[in-house]
Amino acid sequence: MYIIETARLGLRDWQESDLSPYAAMCNDPRVMEFFPKTLTKEEAREMINRLKQHIAAKGYGFWAVDIKTTGEFIGFVGLETPRFEADFTPCVEIGWRLAYQYWNKGYAQEAARKCLEFGFNHLGLTEIVAFTPILNKRSINVMKKIGMTYVKDFDHPNIKLGSPLRKHVLYKIASKHCSMVIF
Ligand SMILES: CC(C)(COP(=O)(O)OP(=O)(O)OC[C@H]1O[C@@H](n2cnc3c(N)ncnc32)[C@H](O)[C@@H]1OP(=O)(O)O)[C@@H](O)C(=O)NCCC(=O)NCCS
Repeated sequence: MYIIETARLGLRDWQESDLSPYAAMCNDPRVMEFFPKTLTKEEAREMINRLKQHIAAKGYGFWAVDIKTTGEFIGFVGLETPRFEADFTPCVEIGWRLAYQYWNKGYAQEAARKCLEFGFNHLGLTEIVAFTPILNKRSINVMKKIGMTYVKDFDHPNIKLGSPLRKHVLYKIASKHCSMVIF
């Protein structure tokens, strides 16, 4: 059932039972602090459908994450192709979003390391990027902890001018570097 397994976590395609906990976490202002808004249940459902379609089309995506011992759904971690245009696209990004009660347990780093391994060893990618608003220190911490390095700041084209969320950082990791740093 799991596409990727870590010591504590299983990453898999989305299922119907994820909607309720996913909608709850996307309606939590703490989880959505660095996004333009929280999501309604309908918007969360649409997002899950989009994520499922990406996984079906490409064989990778932002996968649902469970704690293996309990089967609890905790959020998503995975690889995606950004839909906006920038001077570093097309590319594959690594991303994460966990429900608040599962922060500070090392789950994001643990899942992300295996996603990098999947991207480089299974998908044959040569580089993976990550980006987030410059204010999102927790997300930047995950990037650093998994061996990614700072590339530059950029303005996210889909976030409106004047928003404090528009200024983003770009990080990246290359496959040859990954094998030295992480495994
Ligand atoms: C970004 C996000 C996924 C980070 O979650 P997180 O729990 O802080 O991430 P980590 O997995 O790195 O764990 C953090 C800390 O857990 C602690 N921890 C506890 N047990 C641990 C263990 N077994 N192994 C490793 N770390 C552990 C560590 O102190 C670690 O931080 P450190 O490595 O700097 O010491 C989370 O804040 C989130 O979902 N935010 C909202 C969504 C979001 O902003 N996503 C990014 C948008 S671009």
